[in-house]
Amino acid sequence: MEVVVRRVAAAIERSNSNQRVVADRERLAAFSHQLFEVQEIDRGHLARELHDEIGQVLTLASISLHEVKALASAAARARLEECCRTVDNALEQVRSLTLKLRPPLLDELGLEAALGWHLHRLAGQAGLIAHFDCPPSLGRFHPNIETACYRVIQEALTNVVRHARASEIWVKLQIRDAALEMSVRDDGIGFNVQTRRQRAARGESFGLVSMEQRVLLAGGTIEFESAALCGSVVYACLPVAATPAASIPAGECP
Ligand SMILES: Nc1ncnc2c1ncn2[C@@H]1O[C@H](COP(=O)(O)OP(=O)(O)OP(=O)(O)O)[C@@H](O)[C@H]1O
Ligand SMILES: [Mg+2]
Repeated sequence: MEVVVRRVAAAIERSNSNQRVVADRERLAAFSHQLFEVQEIDRGHLARELHDEIGQVLTLASISLHEVKALASAAARARLEECCRTVDNALEQVRSLTLKLRPPLLDELGLEAALGWHLHRLAGQAGLIAHFDCPPSLGRFHPNIETACYRVIQEALTNVVRHARASEIWVKLQIRDAALEMSVRDDGIGFNVQTRRQRAARGESFGLVSMEQRVLLAGGTIEFESAALCGSVVYACLPVAATPAASIPAGECP
C-alpha cells in the first residue's frame, strides 16, 4: 500500500512539474512575443524621429552650407567643401539607419516592394547578383506576419553579405496552402548548420536564434540547409489568415 501511495505521489509530482514546465514555456513565448512587438514599435518610433528631426536639421544645414559655399571666397570654399561633405555623409548615414530600423515601404506598400528594394540595394552595395522571385499579386498580410517575414529575410541577407562570400543570391516568396513560404539561397562557402546553431543557442550569436523565434512565434517553421562550398538556404513558412490585410484596422500596425 505504501509503495502505491509513494508511486501515486511521485506521479502527481511529475505531472505538476510537467504542468509547470508547460506554463513556464507559455509564459516565455508570450514574453518573447511582447519583446518583439515592443522592439518593432521602438524601431518605428526611432526611425520616424531620426528622419523627421535629425534628418530635417541636417538637410537644412546642407542646403545652407551649399548656398554659403557658392558665395564664399576661394580660400573659404575649400573648408566649406569639407563641411558639406561631412554633413552630407551624416545625412546619408541617418537615411540608411532609418531604413534599417523600419523601412516605410513595408507598412505602406508591403513585402514585395520593401523586400525587393532592400535586396537590390544591399546586393548593389555588396557586389552580389540578386534574383527576386515574388508574385506581384502576393498581397498584404497581418502586420505581425509581414514584420516576421521581413526581419527573417533581412537577417538571412545580412548573413549572406557578412559570411557567405557569395556571388549570387536568390530570394523567393510564394503563397501555398494558406502559408507564406520564403527562401533565401546563396552560392557561397556554406557553414556547418548544427555547430552554428549550437553556438547560437549558447548565446554566442543572435541572428539564427532570432529568425527561429520570430517564425515559431508566428506559428511557422524554419529550416537551415548548408554544406561546405555548396552555399546555404534558409526556408521559412508562415501561416497566413484568409483575411486580407486591407481589412486590418490601421491602429493594429506595429
Ligand atoms: N549564409 C551564410 N553563409 C555562411 N555562413 C553563414 C551564413 N549564415 C550564417 N552563417 C554562419 O552562422 C553563424 C551564425 O549566424 P548568426 O546570424 O547567428 O550570427 P552572426 O551573423 O555571426 O552574428 P549576429 O548575432 O550579429 O547575427 C555565422 O557567424 C556564420 O558563421
Ligand atoms: Mg547574423
